[in-house]
Amino acid sequence: MGRCPDCSTWGSVVEEIRESGREKRPATAGVDPVPVTRIPEDSSQRIPTGLDELDRVLGGGMVPGSVILLGGDPGIGKSTLILQVLALLAASGQKVLYVTAEESMRQIRMRAQRVGSESENLLVLAETDFAEVAATIRKTTPDTVVLDSVQALYHPDIGSSSGSISQVREIAGEAVALAKGEEITTWLIGHVTKEGAIAGPRALEHLVDTVLYFEGDSSHAYRILRAVKNRYGSTNEIALLEMTGQGLIQVSDPAGLFMPSGSRISPGSALVMGVEGTRPLLVEVQALVAQTPFPNPRRTVSGSELSRVLLILAVLDKRAGIQTGGLDVFINVAGGLKLTEPATDLGLALALVSSVREKPILEKTAVCGELGLAGEVRPVTRLEARIREAARLGLTRVIVPAAGIDKLPGIKGMEIVGVEAVEDAIEAAFQG
Ligand code: TYD
Ligand code: MG
Repeated sequence: MGRCPDCSTWGSVVEEIRESGREKRPATAGVDPVPVTRIPEDSSQRIPTGLDELDRVLGGGMVPGSVILLGGDPGIGKSTLILQVLALLAASGQKVLYVTAEESMRQIRMRAQRVGSESENLLVLAETDFAEVAATIRKTTPDTVVLDSVQALYHPDIGSSSGSISQVREIAGEAVALAKGEEITTWLIGHVTKEGAIAGPRALEHLVDTVLYFEGDSSHAYRILRAVKNRYGSTNEIALLEMTGQGLIQVSDPAGLFMPSGSRISPGSALVMGVEGTRPLLVEVQALVAQTPFPNPRRTVSGSELSRVLLILAVLDKRAGIQTGGLDVFINVAGGLKLTEPATDLGLALALVSSVREKPILEKTAVCGELGLAGEVRPVTRLEARIREAARLGLTRVIVPAAGIDKLPGIKGMEIVGVEAVEDAIEAAFQG
């Protein structure tokens, strides 16, 4: 059925095959539950992948027999990352199997050559039929297997086409059973689909142990790997990677990557003290406020959320008398990074004010703070770490929420300006 008769949206009806002939089971006697203290402790070892950044995100390496879902936009570098990881595992003596349902053996060979990932222990299977894949996994019993991608595999027992929700669920379900039964660490690769991932990785999150998303802007080199679910570790860590001609490399010190290259700060630009995962990151945000030739002014936001920017514009209008109603507003975050934490509000606000006034923010100044609806600047987490990072990168002045600064230790060479409201922040940023 092309169109839902209920809500009239197109292409939203998904085929599910009902299993017939399931017989009613006789009642069972039940099983005795076990006190939690009597359960044997988990002594399983972590297997380092060889990529420290990835290991940190996983919580110290892969747990044998765990299932890890790696999701991301097409072309972001999932296959590249996983091939590099497999090669590192193979080099450490693991038997690894790479199942590709999207590319040919030749393409894999070419990529392996390009990223220097050739090894005898790295087995490759180009196959789309999941029944074949499962049989091969049982036969070769690898330590680690990768299914790239779950959406391109096809389960012959399910009637619908590959990539549909019932196909993807069934394949993932069987892969999980296989992983747990044979203690094979399994990576499932999934594309985030345009429509907000209907049959994408989101539909599988509950089935797997760990969910990683690979983010970034494919027109920029930097990539962030983020854990959104982890049964074996925290979800606070991120990995920062850079796509080069020879595959992905780790960026262990992101110092200044997202900062302006020249020393002069131009109008419309602000340095934000952000935190990604547990890592402080200094990022340049840019705003451009300009006369519009159109009757409806535009708000174009990249690297932040439109709703946040709209809120900040409204607060600036009400509390600081800065009107942008008839003007186009563009926001951009350096390096293709996506800043989602509220602590970046104040930076966005100051960048906007700076563009409206055509006046740069004072030199060597960084900002952080969440904006409330009344224009108040609210405290942020990990304030000290943010300020220390700014100091390390040679900045001399920070504008931060006033709440909490009395508890901060003095930081050498750093002037800390605490502000309570957005007007104070503007005052401090431009000094009048
Ligand atoms: P890929 O891993 O195929 O992405 P995905 O599996 O997520 O769809 O990588 C896609 C892009 O990465 C491709 O456009 C080219 C680029 N790339 C490099 O820049 N350097 C490299 O060494 C490799 C292998 C790929
Ligand atoms: Mg791929």
